[in-house]
Amino acid sequence: MNQTESAKRVALVTGGIGGLGTEICRQLAQAGRRVIAVDLPARAERVEAFEREVAALDGAITFEPVDVTDFDSCQQLTARIEQRHGSLDILVNAAGITRDASLRKMSPQQWQELMRVNLDGVFNMCRNVVDGMTSRGFGRIVNISSVNGQTGQFGQTNYSAAKAGVHGFGMALARETARKGVTVNTVSPGYCDTPMVAAVSAEIRAQIIADIPVGRLGSPADIARAVKFLAADDAGYITGADLPVNGGYFMSF
Ligand code: CAA
Repeated sequence: MNQTESAKRVALVTGGIGGLGTEICRQLAQAGRRVIAVDLPARAERVEAFEREVAALDGAITFEPVDVTDFDSCQQLTARIEQRHGSLDILVNAAGITRDASLRKMSPQQWQELMRVNLDGVFNMCRNVVDGMTSRGFGRIVNISSVNGQTGQFGQTNYSAAKAGVHGFGMALARETARKGVTVNTVSPGYCDTPMVAAVSAEIRAQIIADIPVGRLGSPADIARAVKFLAADDAGYITGADLPVNGGYFMSF
């Protein structure tokens, strides 16, 4: 990869101080990208902890508090970044929540809250970066889906629908942008060592881990390296793909 070229790339990671997002930001920064971590205007101590975690990277990662469910805020954010840095080259949509409940117990609020973050958030960000990327002739979009979008999971009709939707969205957008140097891909993590998975009951979690061929939860670093791979300058012939990173938990063609 051309180091001078890659050093100019500006990456935005939603869910940027989250379970997977922090490590995605770190690995992109280590690969020479200027990284903007976007997340909810979180509690001050969470942001401070994030800043301590990324301090070794000498200002390569900055934090922007934005709610991805708000289209106008996403529009203002992308305009601000393009104005400040000249471009926005890499978008990683890693913002996601769970609202687990079996369908017979799921409230409309649990359905809607999840859709607004996990699916509307992807639209809100992609819609606002796509014109800039296609006009500059370069872009890398990586959307974080989930193995549970591929297989379905008990208690996750909302999450599985949104995560399957993320890949459908990505395939459609990949076709729209392929001629303009913009790739759109999905990474589908399995069960990883994050607070989201820690929230699953110990009994169910133990059963899930027992079913993972590799024999352990994934690490955020396992996911981040797949994102970094798809976001590279020389990954231009991979588009509309879904890269599973799940320890063999779900294997398919
Ligand atoms: N599989 C099969 N049956 C199950 C079940 C499961 N996973 N969970 C519950 N049941 C059964 C119960 O045994 C019970 O059966 P009986 O009625 O015969 O006694 C019945 O279903 C209970 O149904 P409820 O609607 O009352 O379910 P609940 O409220 O007890 O549990 C739940 C619902 C909390 C969502 C629970 O199923 C659960 O935690 N599921 C796992 C959710 C999960 O894996 N989330 C992943 C979060 S991490 C993530 O999403 C990251 C990623 O991308 C991988």
